[in-house]
Amino acid sequence: MARTLLVTGGAGFIGSCFVLQARERGERVINLDKLTYAGNPDNLASLAQDPDHILVQGDIGNAELVNWLLRQYRPDAVVNFAAESHVDRSILDPEAFVRTNVLGTSTLLRVVKNWWQNLDEPAKSSFRFLHVSTDEVYGALKPGDPAFCETTPYSPNSPYSASKAASDHLVRAFHETYGLPTLITNCSNNYGPRQFPEKLIPLTIINARNNRSIPVYGTGSNIRDWLHVEDHCAAIALVLEKGRVGESYNIGGHSARTNLEVVQSICEILQQEEPSPTMYADLILFVTDRPGHDFRYAIDCSKIERELGWKPAHTFATGLVDTVLWYLANDAWVENVCSGAYLDWVDRNYGHRG
Ligand code: NAD
Ligand code: DAU
Repeated sequence: MARTLLVTGGAGFIGSCFVLQARERGERVINLDKLTYAGNPDNLASLAQDPDHILVQGDIGNAELVNWLLRQYRPDAVVNFAAESHVDRSILDPEAFVRTNVLGTSTLLRVVKNWWQNLDEPAKSSFRFLHVSTDEVYGALKPGDPAFCETTPYSPNSPYSASKAASDHLVRAFHETYGLPTLITNCSNNYGPRQFPEKLIPLTIINARNNRSIPVYGTGSNIRDWLHVEDHCAAIALVLEKGRVGESYNIGGHSARTNLEVVQSICEILQQEEPSPTMYADLILFVTDRPGHDFRYAIDCSKIERELGWKPAHTFATGLVDTVLWYLANDAWVENVCSGAYLDWVDRNYGHRG
């Protein structure tokens, strides 16, 4: 019988990509998503008639609901994507991040652990709880510092990364204390189709296309390591299948770029695809920096490469072109997410930056 996965946050950017890949592999997916501003059923439109994808609107912090889903569907694994994920929002409203990322994960772990403890063998031994986390838990690097590896001490700097660090510690503790078979992945910046346009790459594409300024924080010299979302999801599937229980795995793209380089590359691709009489790059506007802005992230992903044989399939150059083309071809998706509450967010985050 096909494997059943309980995926949380599977209507968001990365979770929906994982769900689509899981269905291609033939796995049944129970998708628990609160459908916050970032959760978008349109991301899963191609599964609308699929009886083996069951989307349930709900909160990972709702113990009763999670308990019912476990008993009803008896998943072989839980994959936890559900989170508040945007650093700038965490600066304006830290508590929402504590509620979902810390308390929500804690409730999810407790309910899953209680259910798992009563499973019979072999289901008990083969069960997995995979928690999707971020490289931001390791803090910020200076220019010559070595890349983050799995043993780098945690040193989170934003309310977002602090809440993710707390959730990672809880996952680790549930393994050490109760023996829950957990796995943690810590990934670098993702890009690709269906990313909510609060994040740098889709924001740049959409603003440039609409002849709006492209806000670059500070001098644009901060460095991120970019990975295509499909490569991230393939890595998660591999860790789920072959990862050593209780371990964490770093995932990265070997594609470190300054923010200014990323924004300029997008402007060049747009100039090529939809030539504008004025240069898109002229829309770049340096604005007040993000408070506590981490300077640089870099990931040493030799462990997942060595132990599990993972390698990214996309290069940043071709992946970025494909991503820009996706946004150009999906006006309805863009219009849908850029209305209503999104405009309030733009006002709150950029109104004061000048
Ligand atoms: P996203 O914001 O696009 O999606 C988050 C999803 O979680 C949404 O569908 C939302 O509705 C859902 N959600 C939020 N609160 C919930 C709750 N209480 N209960 C159930 N569902 C809830 O985020 P994303 O970029 O897809 O990130 C997914 C995960 O990957 C997060 O845990 C994030 O920390 C991690 N991550 C993201 C990146 C990145 O570059 N985006 C990189 C590394 C790790
Ligand atoms: O590193 C992994 C993390 O990557 C994930 O854990 C987070 O969920 C994800 O949001 C992302 O965090 P960042 O803060 O790096 O992503 P964001 O797209 O918000 O910003 C990328 C860089 O671009 C960062 O240095 C801030 C800068 N930036 C961002 C925005 C929104 C700008 O210069 N201007 C902007 O308007």
